[in-house]
Amino acid sequence: MKVLAIYGSPRKNGNSSQMLDHLVSFLPDYAKVEKLFLSEKNFSGCCATRDCKQLGYCPVQDDMQEIYKKLLWAEVIIFASSSQFSDVSVPVKKLMERTWWMKGILKNKIGAAVISGRRYMESTINTLSAFMLRHKMILGASPALAYTFTEMGEIDLDYLAFRDTEKLAQRITELYNLIYKQ
Ligand SMILES: Cc1cc2nc3c(=O)[nH]c(=O)nc-3n(C[C@H](O)[C@H](O)[C@H](O)COP(=O)(O)O)c2cc1C
Repeated sequence: MKVLAIYGSPRKNGNSSQMLDHLVSFLPDYAKVEKLFLSEKNFSGCCATRDCKQLGYCPVQDDMQEIYKKLLWAEVIIFASSSQFSDVSVPVKKLMERTWWMKGILKNKIGAAVISGRRYMESTINTLSAFMLRHKMILGASPALAYTFTEMGEIDLDYLAFRDTEKLAQRITELYNLIYKQ
């Protein structure tokens, strides 16, 4: 099971990162997990030149080039995002835009997401789910949520957050076994 865990918050060790760490710790021993911290990467959103339409790839030379390789490698892609102004964090949004040329290429990869927020997370759920479905990825469950107020470490105050994250790890494993272990 090749897993790309995408830590999408601007805060490396923040609430959504703690959720994703927890999820990863509940994946089976045979999972090979690559952790990607978007806050450490330097890349832009889509420049909308449409050059990728002719080329079949994105020609912008920044850290997305190494991220593309990781996306292609993965069988399972899991996003962690904070909810910011009712939607995904800026690094996650930039990554999404930059996958425009990849339509069809991420098809059938298993997708999942964890989201932390103070309270307004509906659009964040929708954006992440719609993104993965646009890529025809396979989703086995809704994103796991943590209601965390605003500070780091407050994930502990939401007793359902870790439980739902564990359930999501189980569901990813179930789906992986259905698809890959005939
Ligand atoms: C600029 C900004 C905007 C935010 N907007 C929202 C929001 O619209 N809805 C919400 O539920 N939480 C919002 N929050 C709170 C964060 O989502 C919350 O603190 C989250 O747990 C942070 O996750 P992180 O530690 O992984 O960054 C916002 C925080 C920041 C910094």
